Amino acid sequence: MAKRNPTKFLKEEYKQIQKEGREWVHRSLETPSETQVKVDGKELLMLCSNNYLNLANHPHLRKRAIEAVEKYGAGSGSVRAIAGNMVIHEEWEQKHADFKEQEASMVWMSGFIANEGAIPTLVRKGDFIISDQLNHGSIIDGVRLTKTVRTIYDHCDMGSLEEKLKEADAADPNGEKRILVILDGVYSMDGDMSPLDEVQKLSEEYGAMIFVDDAHGDGVLGRNKKGKGIVDHFGLQGKVQVEMNTYSKAMGVVGGAIVGSKNLVNFLRNTGRSYLLSGSQPPAVAGAALGSLEVLDPKSPFHEPVVEKLLDNCDYFKSKIVDIGYGHDITVASSKCPTAIVPIICGENEVAKKLSDRLMVEGIFALPIVFPMVPRGTARIRVMMNAGLTKEDLDFALMKFEDLGRELKIF
Ligand SMILES: Cc1ncc(COP(=O)(O)O)c(C=O)c1O
Repeated sequence: MAKRNPTKFLKEEYKQIQKEGREWVHRSLETPSETQVKVDGKELLMLCSNNYLNLANHPHLRKRAIEAVEKYGAGSGSVRAIAGNMVIHEEWEQKHADFKEQEASMVWMSGFIANEGAIPTLVRKGDFIISDQLNHGSIIDGVRLTKTVRTIYDHCDMGSLEEKLKEADAADPNGEKRILVILDGVYSMDGDMSPLDEVQKLSEEYGAMIFVDDAHGDGVLGRNKKGKGIVDHFGLQGKVQVEMNTYSKAMGVVGGAIVGSKNLVNFLRNTGRSYLLSGSQPPAVAGAALGSLEVLDPKSPFHEPVVEKLLDNCDYFKSKIVDIGYGHDITVASSKCPTAIVPIICGENEVAKKLSDRLMVEGIFALPIVFPMVPRGTARIRVMMNAGLTKEDLDFALMKFEDLGRELKIF
C-alpha cells in the first residue's frame, strides 16, 4: 500500500502562496464599518468597503436588528421550507419586491449562494449559457454546476454577444433548448456597467432569458437617484427575467435576493438547492435589511437622501482623480459611469502595493488589486465611494493620491 500524508499539501501550498505574494493578509477592524475606522490599531479613512450607502452601522438598522432579535430570537431554527420561515422573512421579501417594482422576490443566505443555487436550476443538460467574459466568480461557479453548452462573449461587446446567440440559435433549429444570457450589472474591478438595454433587445430577438447580477448596482444606480439598480436605470422591469441582488454591499447588511415574476420565485423556491438545503437568515439580518429599505424609501419616516449623497461623492471624486493625473483609460471610463467603484490604475503590481502601503501610513485604508486578479500592467487601488464621506475627507484623500502619485511616478 502506498504511504500517503493526507495533509502535507496544506502547508506546502500555503507556503507557495506566500512566496508568490498571493496571500490575503486579513486586516482587523476594531470599530464598526464606517468612514472612519480603526484597523490593526490605526485610525484610518475607509476607502475600500462595499458599504456604499454607509448603512452598516446606521442607527435605524441597528434598532431594527435589535427589535427583530427581541421578537424572533437569535436564530431561525431551520431551512425556510421546513420550519425556518418567519413572518419577518416574508416581510423582507415583499418589501424587496416592492422596492424593485417586481412581482416577487426571495431571499438567500448570500448573493454568492443565490448565484450558485439559481443558475443550475434554470437550464438543463444541452441548453446554452452565454456569459460575459468578466462575470463574478459566483456566476462562474454557478455555471460550472450546469451541464450546458457554455460560451463566453467579449466583455460588454454586443457584436460578440450576438454572434454567440446566432451560434446557439443555429444549433437548435426547433427552438427546444433554453438560452440563458448571464452578466453582471456593474463590474467590480473596472466599475463599468453592462449595456443592459442592448442585451435585452438582442436576447428578446433570440428568445433568450437574461440573468443579471446587480450586486454593485443595488442602492447606487437607477432613475431619480432612488437606488433601485440597473434594471430600473434602463426602465426594464418585467423585461429582464432574473435579477440577483445582495444586501452585503450598499444595503449594509448581508444576504442575497432574486427578484422577478411570481412564476420565477415559485419555481426557485422548489428547485434551488442552496435555498432549500441551507438554514434561513437570522431574524436580526432580516430586521436590519428591512431597516435599509426604509432608509431608501422616500415615503418612509426613516428616509434619508443617502443615494444622492453617494452619487454626489462619486461625481466629485471620480472627476478630480482624473484631473490630478490618473489618466489610464480604465480610470477615465469609470469616471463617466455613475457607479461607486473607482479603479485608480497604477501599472505594475509593486507600484499599486507601494501606493497602498504609503496611503495607509498617511491615514487612508485603500487596498491594491493586482495581477492575476486584473490584467498585467493594470494593477490598481480600487476605491469604493461611501455616502458618509465628507468633502473634507475626499479632498484629504485626493491630496494624498496626488502627492504619492507624483512621488511614485505614476503620472
Ligand atoms: C458581482 C458580485 N456578485 C455576487 C457577489 C456575492 O455577493 P454576497 O456578498 O452577497 O455573497 C459579489 C461579492 O463580492 C459580487 O461582487
